[in-house]
Amino acid sequence: MANNFSQLAKKSRNNVSSSKVKKEALENPPLEIFKLGSDFLRTDAKRIGKVDLDIRNLAKDMLKSMYSAKGIGLAAPQVGISKELLVIDINFEDSAAEPLILINPEITAYGNTLNSYEEGCLSIPGVYLNVIRPSTIKLKFSDEMGRPRKMNAEGLLARCIQHEVDHLRGVLFVDRVTSTEDLKTELKKEGFQMKDVVPYSQS
Ligand code: NI
Repeated sequence: MANNFSQLAKKSRNNVSSSKVKKEALENPPLEIFKLGSDFLRTDAKRIGKVDLDIRNLAKDMLKSMYSAKGIGLAAPQVGISKELLVIDINFEDSAAEPLILINPEITAYGNTLNSYEEGCLSIPGVYLNVIRPSTIKLKFSDEMGRPRKMNAEGLLARCIQHEVDHLRGVLFVDRVTSTEDLKTELKKEGFQMKDVVPYSQS
C-alpha cells in the first residue's frame, strides 16, 4: 500500500525494539515491484509450508523495496512471488518501530462498522481513491519464526492489512472502487488502463 497517511502513521506508534532493516531509500532496491497490468498481480498466492531462512530473507528484501518506494505495505505477489507473505510498516517514519511480517495471514472476523478511506498501492503509483472496508478485523498468521499468532487491528493498520491480504487473492484496491468516474480519471492521469481493473463483485 502506498503511503499518504503520514499524519495517522505518526499517531500509531508503539513500543518496539529496533528493526533489522534500515528504513531508507536504496538506489537499487533488491526487488522489482510489478505494476497494474502485470499477470503477477492477478495470481493466487500459495500458503507457505515451512518458514525458513529463505522466507526471512525474502521478507527483508521486501521491506527494503517497500521502504525504497516509500510504502507502508507490500505483498509477495507484487514482487512476482506467489507466496502468502506480507510486510507492513505504518510507522515507517519511526526508525525504532518494528515492521510486521505476516505469513499465511487469514482474516478471521470483520467488524460491523464500515468506513471509506483513500488508498494507494505501490503497484499503481500516483493513483489514490476512496475504498469502503470494515474498520476493524481479527487476524491469524505465522510470524517470521513460524509461530502461530493472532491479532486485532483497527484504523490504518486494519485497512492496510485488508489491502495487502487482497493482493494474495489477486485483488487490487482499484477493483473495489465504487466511483467508476473517479477511477477512470485517476488511472488515465497516471497512464494506467481501465481494462486492467477487475471489478470486485464480478471476480
Ligand atoms: Ni497494494
